[in-house]
Amino acid sequence: MSKEYQFEPLLTEEEESNYSFTRQPKAPRRWSLSILLSICLIISTSLNLFQAIANVPAPLEHESKPTECRSEYANLKDNEISVKWLQSSAYTSLNISERDHMWDAINHDSGIVAVPKEWAAQKGLDMGADFPWDKSKTIYFVNAFHSLHCIKNIYRSMMEYREGLPQTFDQHHLVHCLDQLRADTECAADDTLRVTTPSREKSTAVGQVRQCRSFDQLRAWTVDHSGCYRYGNPTFEDAQDSQLPRKRYCPEGSPDLDTVRAYYGKGPDWTPANDPVWSWFDEDEKRGQ
Ligand SMILES: *[C@@H]1O[C@H](CO)[C@@H](O)[C@H](O)[C@H]1NC(C)=O
Repeated sequence: MSKEYQFEPLLTEEEESNYSFTRQPKAPRRWSLSILLSICLIISTSLNLFQAIANVPAPLEHESKPTECRSEYANLKDNEISVKWLQSSAYTSLNISERDHMWDAINHDSGIVAVPKEWAAQKGLDMGADFPWDKSKTIYFVNAFHSLHCIKNIYRSMMEYREGLPQTFDQHHLVHCLDQLRADTECAADDTLRVTTPSREKSTAVGQVRQCRSFDQLRAWTVDHSGCYRYGNPTFEDAQDSQLPRKRYCPEGSPDLDTVRAYYGKGPDWTPANDPVWSWFDEDEKRGQ
């Protein structure tokens, strides 16, 4: 560290119109402490160098460079993309039908992934369920997609309540969803500072840019490790004895697609992923007709 900054803890009344932080005059140097700290720094740096030379790990495929922070499983770069916070978006549109379409279009199916059991063991993961089309793989649900599933269901429940329609998801499922989002929020402990304005309007961070991981890259990773899963209509599919048909949606190019075709006695023209995606919005439209 070459510079020492001291920040004032809070702005006082008179300083409120002048938001800049001021630099405090430096205290007189305490030479004995500086010398002691310098010696500690030299010793610490030497030890680090020795450790680096003596213990260089072999580079692994897809392994991150030591200076970059990468996520544990999909190898996503931290702070890769700039995203602007908005006070409103298509998801908050006052046109309810337009807004419903947006929430309905959130697709979390690809969040069910199948990965080699050997890789999962190397990562120290508890084994998930067997992947039905290849027993060397095990199934997981990527957390961001689980959260999207929760958010989508909570929106739907709220709209059903508003429209006086029967609830699709029971209260226990929805409260579980809220609890997972609560736990996610605490786990991320996101310390991004939302910019405030002096206006009476209770809005913060409008137009502010923050750095995020790339959700597109996470989605691409899930598609590359497809668990061939699709949710479907919860009141119909959840009630079926066999859940296997939900796991038939292997995408084109998936190494497991031929196994699925053989199981269902279908030819090479059959691509289950092309079957229409179930949509509660379309169901409601049909009901309304
Ligand atoms: C709402 O949006 C839909 C689809 O974009 C459009 O067809 C409809 O006219 C809009 N309704 C109103 C009241 O603006």
